Amino acid sequence: MRTTQVAIVGAGPSGLLLSQLLSREGIDSVVLERESREHVQGRIRAGLLEWTTVELLREAGVGGRMMQEGLIHEGFDVAFANGRHRIDLKALTGKSMLVYGQNELQKDLAETRSGEPGAVLWQVRDVALHDCDSRAPRVSYTHEGTRQELRCDFLAGCDGYHGVSRTVIPRERLAQYERVYPFGWLGLLADVPPLHAELVYARHERGFALCSMRSPGRSRYYVQCPLEDTVGEWPDGRFWDELRLRVPEWYAARLVTGPSLEKSIVPLRSLVTEPMQFGRLFLVGDAAHIVPPTGAKGLNLAAADVRVLSRALIEFYRNRSATLLEEYSTRALSRVWKATRFSWWFTRLLHRFSTDPFAQRMQSAELEYLAGSEAASRSLAENYVGLSFD
Ligand code: APR
Ligand code: PHB
Repeated sequence: MRTTQVAIVGAGPSGLLLSQLLSREGIDSVVLERESREHVQGRIRAGLLEWTTVELLREAGVGGRMMQEGLIHEGFDVAFANGRHRIDLKALTGKSMLVYGQNELQKDLAETRSGEPGAVLWQVRDVALHDCDSRAPRVSYTHEGTRQELRCDFLAGCDGYHGVSRTVIPRERLAQYERVYPFGWLGLLADVPPLHAELVYARHERGFALCSMRSPGRSRYYVQCPLEDTVGEWPDGRFWDELRLRVPEWYAARLVTGPSLEKSIVPLRSLVTEPMQFGRLFLVGDAAHIVPPTGAKGLNLAAADVRVLSRALIEFYRNRSATLLEEYSTRALSRVWKATRFSWWFTRLLHRFSTDPFAQRMQSAELEYLAGSEAASRSLAENYVGLSFD
């Protein structure tokens, strides 16, 4: 039977970043991941990092390529009524964002962790958590055909929305708050130059659209679509035509189209699990909360959880003090709820929800207020760049 200090379930950004930060402090961990390394790296997700996330990644020693290839963005556009309002993040908050694809970050993290043989086990089956509320938790799993067991001091559930960790917590000890949105995002990736140097979030009567990017030669676009739609119903030509209709004419005239490299539909959901701890099990990232992609808070919230938990574990092993560990859930949730509120508000501001004329007028009024008020723009900017840690 193997022993480690922290057993981590899931090798997404949360799990790998946590194990890397712990390793730098001499704390031993083992990451158990269901999928292959290639599979995890191939998943296309958002790619917008808050500066606190950037700093955490640099602190973890995985920021080299990110700082070279990432694109610094000092603002973005909110487009509506055929016009555009620029949110000047730098002027309003003093902060910028970094555009760097999550799958690139995933590659960097996996590469760094591969320097420590045995620290990450890929393609592990049937992970089961045991005795989480005791002083001696265990994880059992099947790896390379053999059933094995790992003893640990603590467990970190970094296994995403579909993971097992959250399900271990007894129902009566867990509250879940959820909102399912009545539409999805159809995303398309293409090797074409971005429509604009900065991101464009567009509200249109036909539905929301987002023009984002991965690099100067690779664009990522999204259009709001009905949940029932399938990718097959959206050949590239239909996607480009729809996108052109939803952005201001000034932009539409500049749109460069090309064959899609990837196309997928994601549903939109807000979910918060409380508390984010059960005994010696700590939930981290998507395992504990989901936000709609509007504003790209998912990965940044996951990194914030990792920041709080890694500091608490380091404090425990350095000074044998469990105070920060006991505070983990409260500290993490305070940020989670604020980001949940922001992504819910930003989603509501920009999407077509209903045909109710009153609701539509309210949305227009709020956008006009935003465009005309520095206070409203600053409030958006402050949340977008990420609230500071206390
Ligand atoms: N056993 C082992 N691994 C598992 C299990 C399981 N039972 N269930 C899920 N996993 C793995 C998944 O295969 C995945 O690689 O856990 C990992 C979870 O990774 P993510 O879903 O990426 O979650 P997280 O690491 O918290 O990343 C933060 O925020 O909004 C998002 O897109 C953003 O993915 C990013 C996330
Ligand atoms: C993305 O580039 O995929 C992206 C960017 C910003 C968002 C959401 C997604 O708000």
